[in-house]
Amino acid sequence: MYRIAVIPGDGTGPEVVREGVKVLEAAAEVCGFDYQADFFDFGGERYLRTGLTLTDEELEQLRSYDAIFLGAIGHPDVRPGILEQGILLKIRFGLDQYINLRPVRLYPGVDCPLKDKGPEDIDFVVVRENTEGLYAGSGGFLRKGTPHEVAIQESVNTRMGVERCVRYAFEFCRKRNKKKKLTLCGKTNVLTYAWDLWERTFYEVADEYPDVETDYAHVDAICMWFVKNPEWFDVVVTDNMFGDIITDLGAIIQGGMGIAAGGNINPQGTSMFEPIGGSAPKYTGKGVINPLAAICAVQMMLSHLGLEEAAERVERAVMKVCAHDIKSLSAGKMGMSTSEVGDRVVEYVREG
Ligand code: IPM
Ligand code: MN
Repeated sequence: MYRIAVIPGDGTGPEVVREGVKVLEAAAEVCGFDYQADFFDFGGERYLRTGLTLTDEELEQLRSYDAIFLGAIGHPDVRPGILEQGILLKIRFGLDQYINLRPVRLYPGVDCPLKDKGPEDIDFVVVRENTEGLYAGSGGFLRKGTPHEVAIQESVNTRMGVERCVRYAFEFCRKRNKKKKLTLCGKTNVLTYAWDLWERTFYEVADEYPDVETDYAHVDAICMWFVKNPEWFDVVVTDNMFGDIITDLGAIIQGGMGIAAGGNINPQGTSMFEPIGGSAPKYTGKGVINPLAAICAVQMMLSHLGLEEAAERVERAVMKVCAHDIKSLSAGKMGMSTSEVGDRVVEYVREG
């Protein structure tokens, strides 16, 4: 029995999570595993009602689950940062989900904004460090509100944090067994403290993986290469901030936020899976948002739980919907409603 904590969250989160859970249910039935889904109402609405984001007790509760499935966090009536820090980042940090794993894969039938690039060119994974860097919350104000105000935002990089991330990326690249090439994405030419540590760690760990080819690209250059030559990449490892930025670029070259999913992984603890697109307030309640990203998050969750057959079924089903059913991956342009997309995925999951 797998225990899953489900956090539908804000905006379109509940709509896409509903479809994700439908697909989970179908996969469980066909593949013969049991699960229990417990729903939690963390998010903007609850915050506006109670002033609570996520309490320490609730965080401890989440820790007891096998996995977490999250819709979206972010509410137009709540000041930016409160829910993100109080819920999403509190879970990532509190449960030590030190890897943010973001596959970038273009499925056949999906429109790619890159000229002359197809599914054979776009298939890589970004391993983003998920607990340190600029996200650590180190810094502060001096003389706030005066003409001499100073704002300091520091990037925190520990040898332990960098090494476990880099090691995860090498292991992942070896297991993935495709091009077996790991690219470090950094900024060694300017950020000479942080990226000195990253680079030294990367090449030291690389000695243990002679079968994995290593490569380095500056973060600005990688933005160019992702567009010009995405076929060069297999696995990319980077820090929290750069990973945040380059995975939005990754999402758009794989067809957009309608299909982009990610996993917040603690290999020894509880991991959390989410569509990476956010709460999309302007589409809320209209039944036009694409649930495929949330369904892909379920696929990653199944794979993480070791339910490979179920994960593969879900991925095949998503690929069929992309190839045969959906007109566009963009919200409002799918030619189908949110629940129709979910229903179609369920049919394909049952078919095999
Ligand atoms: C993401 C998001 C989050 C991040 C925000 C919502 C805090 O952009 O998951 O990429 O910056 O990590
Ligand atoms: Mn982001």
